Amino acid sequence: MSGLETVTITNKNGMRVEIINFGARVKSIKFRVNNILTEMTLGYGTAEEYLNDDLYLGATCGRVCNRIAGGKFELDGCLYQLPLNDGENCLHGGDNNFSLRYWQIDRQTLNHSSVTLLLVSDHGDQGFPGTLNMSVTYELRSDNKLSIQYSANTDLTTLINLTNHAYFNLGEKDCESLYLQLFSSAYLESDRSNIPTGTILPVENSDYNFKQPVQIGHQQNNTNDKSLKEKQGYDHCFILDDSPFDKPKAILTSFQNQISMSIYTDQPTIQLYTGFYLTGQFISYQGLCLEAQNYTDAQNHLNFPSNVLKPNQKYQRTIIFGFESLNE
Ligand code: BGC
Repeated sequence: MSGLETVTITNKNGMRVEIINFGARVKSIKFRVNNILTEMTLGYGTAEEYLNDDLYLGATCGRVCNRIAGGKFELDGCLYQLPLNDGENCLHGGDNNFSLRYWQIDRQTLNHSSVTLLLVSDHGDQGFPGTLNMSVTYELRSDNKLSIQYSANTDLTTLINLTNHAYFNLGEKDCESLYLQLFSSAYLESDRSNIPTGTILPVENSDYNFKQPVQIGHQQNNTNDKSLKEKQGYDHCFILDDSPFDKPKAILTSFQNQISMSIYTDQPTIQLYTGFYLTGQFISYQGLCLEAQNYTDAQNHLNFPSNVLKPNQKYQRTIIFGFESLNE
């Protein structure tokens, strides 16, 4: 079966974003560089190629993105064991995660600038309790901001942590020459398999300090940090400093293409992943992910904000990727 569908949303400045229903994914973001529409993200040439993707390209990840240690958690006194798909752990919702589902395009909300996709995840799906009703709305605004709005509700207490897994290179050949500024004063210490130890470390005097713009490749190639060396780059969860929603939480800049991308979000962390595991038609570091989400493995760390969603609650989170030319 191939119920594959691609929807293109545009704005008055000629920006174009392609969304596919398989995984509610961002397939392409085209922004003008010197008047030429240029691809900002990594994507496959055809929608069909996403059917075999295991890199989460542009994908909506969940029910719980990132890792759950041992795939185990306790909720309301019950122990749950999820299928494991990342060594001993569960990553991005397991083998049957939301990046591999056909989402329904909500025709009522489809117009030239926005589209909503819907998915129902049944009770027991991926091993989680509760029927989860989700929607993801992509809207391309006239100020060149791509807004992603997640909302969900459940009939039984469950866990949820959704993010977007687009890889950005802002039209450069890889992410290494890009500069990143991240408004984060602390990050989660993690072990070799990317599970938080529970310790929160300050970024001060470390290679995790992006408070001023830092060139990604330079920083990760010249580091002496044990974890960065083990992971061959960044794959770490940064806790975002408190600031009003309209202040960027991260700014990624291509000086070559004179573009910056600002991220606005109400999520408490960003997982910076510089793409070491990119493979197939891509190579390591060809793009980086800035995945706005909740703390990693929150359900197994009582000192982290919770992923719990109760039947009387509505899950609502927003991520905005805003593009700007520096020479205009
Ligand atoms: C993880 C990486 C993982 C990648 C899969 C990222 O969110 O942090 O460790 O390899 O997703 O594409």
